[in-house]
Amino acid sequence: MTPSSRILVAPSILSCDFARIADEIATIERAGADLVHVDVMDGHFVPNLTLGPPIVSAIRKATKLPLDVHLMIQEPDKFLGAFADAGSDYLSVHVEALPHLQRTLSAIRKLGVKAGAALNPATPPDVLEWVVGDLDFVLVMTVNPGFGGQAYLGAVAPKVGAVASLLRARNPGALIEVDGGITDRTAPEVVRQGARMLVAGSYVFGAKDRKKAIDDLRSASQAALVRET
Ligand code: DX5
Ligand code: ZN
Repeated sequence: MTPSSRILVAPSILSCDFARIADEIATIERAGADLVHVDVMDGHFVPNLTLGPPIVSAIRKATKLPLDVHLMIQEPDKFLGAFADAGSDYLSVHVEALPHLQRTLSAIRKLGVKAGAALNPATPPDVLEWVVGDLDFVLVMTVNPGFGGQAYLGAVAPKVGAVASLLRARNPGALIEVDGGITDRTAPEVVRQGARMLVAGSYVFGAKDRKKAIDDLRSASQAALVRET
């Protein structure tokens, strides 16, 4: 398998039982997750509130998996240091919240963390054109951010393809992550377009058998790639 066809599965703990967070993370670690996706919401950028650096720090102690921290907050620059210190391995910021995207991405990298730009469904991919070299990954939202369990917006799938073309030409090492309504049925379409990191919240944590859910997600995605070649 070439590195570019490896599918990374990142269960979102937004859909876990927060009273038992360490146990919940242990179940996905045993089930073969590649990363833990942590959704940070501020009640301003999105209409919901979740958690901050102290919880990320606690999660860091509970798992060896890389932490993929998705900041759905206004003024993320104020908190980059705190989330890096808390143990984030990947940090994504929303371009819609940032007047100086290049500065923010470069600040994340200076903290030794992988830098990602997140795009809401309505945001065109062109905003990445002049920061493409500052990216380690791009997070394409396939729902409007704020809540788990929303329906996948298939109309966004071609945007994954547009981002993939840009990265192939100018930053082939960068990955595309998709987030929102991802299941074994919706993943093949975005994987064919170039997504390689799959966030899945309700699909994994709502499953009776989380290992089977992760395996099914990965095998449906790999099958879509094989059919393509
Ligand atoms: C939504 C979050 C997602 C969410 C995905 O704003 O960014 O990470 O947890 O949940 P599902 O997979 O249930 O759509
Ligand atoms: Zn997310």
